[in-house]
Amino acid sequence: MKIVSAANKEEMSRKAAQIILDLIHVKPSAILGLATGSTPEGTYRFLADDRRKNGTDYQKVRTVNLDEYAGLKPEDPNSYHAYMESHFFRYVNIPSNQHFLPNGTADSLDEGCKAYDRLIERLGGVDLQLLGIGRNGHIGFNEPGTPFDAGTHVVKLTESTRQANARFFGSIQEVPEKAITMGIGTILRSKAILLLASGPSKAEAIAKLLSATAPDTDFPASALLRHPNVTVIADTDAMSLANTKAGSL
Ligand code: PGA
Repeated sequence: MKIVSAANKEEMSRKAAQIILDLIHVKPSAILGLATGSTPEGTYRFLADDRRKNGTDYQKVRTVNLDEYAGLKPEDPNSYHAYMESHFFRYVNIPSNQHFLPNGTADSLDEGCKAYDRLIERLGGVDLQLLGIGRNGHIGFNEPGTPFDAGTHVVKLTESTRQANARFFGSIQEVPEKAITMGIGTILRSKAILLLASGPSKAEAIAKLLSATAPDTDFPASALLRHPNVTVIADTDAMSLANTKAGSL
């Protein structure tokens, strides 16, 4: 695991965007695994700025997102479809039929999950998967206890995750109870993984991840110890409880 330090969220975001741009320059048809939440917002902003200034071409890029709420239509403002549209897709030239997210309103969510894994396989696998980390170590919506070989599946969200995400909704009651997430098995099949963490609320999770010596399903992010190509970019606040010394890019 490569640990990269950043002075603050801005620098974390810039470094992450640069890694994504480097990949697109080397492989214009890259398959990007994307994430939502507060953490990657700045990264998407840097990519949008770069597109405006340098015209980076995304015509051949395909994207697959980590997760989506069950029951929310793509046009629902709280859906991750809507998040991706407003934070990233509208600013770059990825043809819309090359954006993929789990279908939260499929007739059979379970069938939709299997189809999503088959789609990722058909695309040739994710070249770079962007991840945030939950305070409890979750990645995607894979909460503690999730088996590390799970494919894309439906999850019942924990109270703490619904509470953490209630800030995007009017109230916790409006946060869906279920979501669809790439499983840890799906995530581990990505060729490279880029995990971002910013702020003091992530300090405990980062300290635990960086001191983990063996994968443990009680702490989902520790699954990343099994992956040969993981980069963690954490800002000073997120690194504040970790003993590991970070390098720079
Ligand atoms: P956040 O969520 O980026 O909104 O902090 C990350 C996560 O819970 O995976």
